[in-house]
Amino acid sequence: MTIPRATVIGAGQVGATAAHLLALKGLAHVTLIDVVEGLAQGKALDISQSAPVEGIRVSVTGTTNLDAAAGSQLVIITAGLARKPGMSRDDLLAANANIVGPIAERIGRVAPNAILIIVTNPLDVMVALALQRSGFPRHRVMPAPRRTDPPLDPGPATGPGLRQNEPDAGWRKEEGHDG
Ligand SMILES: NC(=O)c1ccc[n+]([C@@H]2O[C@H](COP(=O)([O-])OP(=O)(O)OC[C@H]3O[C@@H](n4cnc5c(N)ncnc54)[C@H](O)[C@@H]3O)[C@@H](O)[C@H]2O)c1
Repeated sequence: MTIPRATVIGAGQVGATAAHLLALKGLAHVTLIDVVEGLAQGKALDISQSAPVEGIRVSVTGTTNLDAAAGSQLVIITAGLARKPGMSRDDLLAANANIVGPIAERIGRVAPNAILIIVTNPLDVMVALALQRSGFPRHRVMPAPRRTDPPLDPGPATGPGLRQNEPDAGWRKEEGHDG
């Protein structure tokens, strides 16, 4: 089976954790991207150096270049600011729209078949913006699941270890990795 490729944009708290989990679970070769020079590269190196201990067999690389997302089946956008004291919701929205909008537009060009998961807050607005700027169809742009979301209905199994309604079922199915 070909191992899919995933890109995580933003190598901060959430992005680095997402990249590590993708690698630990062997779900995809991972490209980690951050605007800060050396940050994604350093985090990717840390994860890669744990590979022999953790049994990680996928590659994890870091870069500042968004074009490295080319060919990814999954792109997770975590880039942006978290709300700081004194920052209004509107301030956060404006700042993060200026980050997420251009990223989504670039992903639309370099990884046109990807599924896009948005983590950056305010989540619903960022999902709508990413949908518009990427040009992707609605079913390929989605928010990261939230703790308050209802539990997924597992539904009937569609393959070994994979159930119809699991969040990655569509990703794997679209790319022909459904078991
Ligand atoms: N949806 C959720 O459930 C959920 C949960 C946690 C955090 N968040 C949100 O996710 C976002 C990230 O949170 P965090 O804790 O990882 O923040 P963080 O500050 O640790 O990381 C954000 C990273 O984004 C990078 N970045 C900024 N602009 C960029 C750009 N143009 N291109 C690439 N990288 C860029 C920063 O350099 C930084 O490393 C925030 O908006 C936060 O509110 C959402």
